[in-house]
Amino acid sequence: MTMNTSKMAQRAALSAAILVSAQASLAEEPIKVGMMLPATGTYAKLGNNIKNGFKLYVDEQGGTLGGRQIEYVEVDSEANPAKAIDNVNKLIKQHEVDVLLGSVHSGVALAMAKRAKESGTVLIVPNAGADNVTGPLCAPNIFRTSFSNWQPGYATGQAMAEDGHKTAVAITWKYGAGKEMLDGFKESFEEAGGTVVKELYVPFPNVEFQALLTQIAAAKPDAVFAFFAGGGAVKFVKDYAAAGLKDAIPLYGTGFLTDGTLEAQGADAEGVKTALHYADALGTPRDDAFREAYAQAYGEQPDVYSVQAYDAAQILGIGLEATGGDIANKETFTAAIRNATVDSPRGEFTMSSSHNPVQDFYLREVTDGVNKVVRIASKSLSDPGRGCRMK
Ligand code: PHB
Repeated sequence: MTMNTSKMAQRAALSAAILVSAQASLAEEPIKVGMMLPATGTYAKLGNNIKNGFKLYVDEQGGTLGGRQIEYVEVDSEANPAKAIDNVNKLIKQHEVDVLLGSVHSGVALAMAKRAKESGTVLIVPNAGADNVTGPLCAPNIFRTSFSNWQPGYATGQAMAEDGHKTAVAITWKYGAGKEMLDGFKESFEEAGGTVVKELYVPFPNVEFQALLTQIAAAKPDAVFAFFAGGGAVKFVKDYAAAGLKDAIPLYGTGFLTDGTLEAQGADAEGVKTALHYADALGTPRDDAFREAYAQAYGEQPDVYSVQAYDAAQILGIGLEATGGDIANKETFTAAIRNATVDSPRGEFTMSSSHNPVQDFYLREVTDGVNKVVRIASKSLSDPGRGCRMK
């Protein structure tokens, strides 16, 4: 059967009109972002700064990304993995969010990744480093703008070995993030000929460190490796100094030990060395502009959590731009983010094949109350993505 030219033209005009009207009605509907972040407990400030960082980028774009208004639904994750499945189901089923943003705690993020993988809802992880999120749980709709726990652990081990330390005690909270950062640290420290003489664990989110600090003093290692964050990091750094260890055994850690915490830690944090994909005084035009805008909006300096969340909004914008705001166009959405170079305040980064940032890790030292760059601890460090089979 053949169609005459005028009929074909009519049909083309009709389908174009349908497309335009579909796009018009799409543009009227907001994109719902379900924020599942801690509003209480030891990680409360981290949750707050993530919310602020994300909203700053959206506000800078006039409240829209890819032509769509951004609307928020907020749930307190309480950094509690036991409540995570219920919380994420509420966002997916009751609120019908288009995007999940969360979380801070690795155990909570694992539950979110599991449900995102099953439901196909886009998930952007703005902090939690659970290795499995970009390992066995990896999926085309799951992205991370922060780090895998392995990454800062590995970079810190490299820096400690390069500084000439041969023996170390490792201390951390006993849950996924602590164990995985410790594993990353051990991997590079031992590869460089170092020995981890003792591993010490504190139940999360406890902050009773005294007995373990006594064990560190007795072990007399060349240096200590620690992961704590938020309120726990403040207490650990203060207790370490109060125990008289600060000048005796150099304290290192993943950068969370001193990020967003320095005001509360005061002089006790001076000299603490950490590795992270961000620092306070990078001095690049991109970071300076970001820090100024953030300070203007919220009356305080940003930290690594604010940056990771700002970039979470950036990648959502990249995906929505590419699809003309149609988040259901999954292939185009995913491809745009996979192929992007993200212009982050931390410095540019790209996504690994398992959707985790490939990025530089800085060795920082707390100097006059800021995390100052000493050198690059690890250049373009990419998580190995062990167990990821992207479908
Ligand atoms: C985590 O649980 O993955 C986690 C929490 C806080 C941090 C870093 C990682 O600062």
